[in-house]
Amino acid sequence: MNANAIGTLGSHCALQVLKGAKDEGFKTILVCESKREGLYKRFRFIDRLLLVEDYKFEHSFSENIQNELHDNNCILVPHGTYISSMSIEEIESIRIPFFGNRWILRWEADRALKERLMLEARLNVPKSISIDELDGSNRSTGNKARLVIAKLHGAAGGKGYFLAWDKESFMTQYNRLLSKGIVKSLDDLYIQEYVLGVPVYLQYFYSPLSREVELLGIDRRYESNVDAIGRIPALQQEHSGIHEISYNVIGNSPLVLRESLLDEVYKIGERFVSAAEYLVKPGMIGPFCIEGVYDQDGRFIVFEFSARIVAGTNLYVNGSPYSYLLYDEPMSMGRRIAREVKIAIDSNELDKVVT
Ligand SMILES: Nc1ncnc2c1ncn2[C@@H]1O[C@H](COP(=O)(O)OP(=O)(O)O)[C@@H](O)[C@H]1O
Ligand SMILES: [Mg+2]
Repeated sequence: MNANAIGTLGSHCALQVLKGAKDEGFKTILVCESKREGLYKRFRFIDRLLLVEDYKFEHSFSENIQNELHDNNCILVPHGTYISSMSIEEIESIRIPFFGNRWILRWEADRALKERLMLEARLNVPKSISIDELDGSNRSTGNKARLVIAKLHGAAGGKGYFLAWDKESFMTQYNRLLSKGIVKSLDDLYIQEYVLGVPVYLQYFYSPLSREVELLGIDRRYESNVDAIGRIPALQQEHSGIHEISYNVIGNSPLVLRESLLDEVYKIGERFVSAAEYLVKPGMIGPFCIEGVYDQDGRFIVFEFSARIVAGTNLYVNGSPYSYLLYDEPMSMGRRIAREVKIAIDSNELDKVVT
């Protein structure tokens, strides 16, 4: 197999990925919704735009588009938009080679599989809760109520998520989603203990060629409306009729951790890679992100992961404090992907980094 081009869908982290690919000497191809053509045409490092109606599978990966990508010897870089706009079956059926392990995306999209992989990696994971464990009697007995977060499956973008403290508060909010058609049954929700602390997103890259885990950046997300609620005092919150919270990511800010926390961060990444190797052959390849919360004792509790590049890496298109410790040149996640493809081609090991 050979590769001359790197391509992706026009959204999420496409600019960073294609800039990195160009810097490493690849031809760059963007499958692009017509309405976004104006945006992406501004960037000279994009060699070709393949225009499509939208990112539904039948348009973005029609026979024509796949043939075009194939004829250009293109490797695709999957990102969050693939997961939010197509089914896992559709993603898996794409004939073009993916950078990374395409089979692990299923483990990202399904919250039960996701939890299994996190437990296999011996991460501190918040307890997942069944409806029956939402004990409505907590409050009347004066026991400290247990706060839970209910989430949808897949990359739902944090919309429709809610917090509850007992069965009654859960059912009220569930029924609201039901009436809006956002969920169809209780199976559409995954309930997890809410962890109080600061959310942190760790951006890793695993190279199957060097067998090393690299920490390339850390970010925090700026999520609406949840990050706005803290700006209103409790009294006003209570009287303003705010019923719905959401975790819709608006942007990302950089973060560096206390240096004493870094050793554990690397170990977490390595345990994740080992668990993926065991559960989802051929294991983790390339970028992934571990998402969690540091509690007041500095303990890291992992609420989820992404098994592909995350958009928070867009912060570091010119490298991050952590990538600079590893590379004496600007090394974005996108560029690191292209670098890995290049090394793999040179050493005739492309099959180790694509599926
Ligand atoms: N168990 C938890 N405790 C506290 N906050 C959480 C927890 N799980 C998720 N969150 C918050 O909700 C956001 C979205 O949840 P996440 O599991 O990352 O779903 P998504 O797949 O939509 O990204 C997170 O970025 C974080 O702010
Ligand atoms: Mg998330």
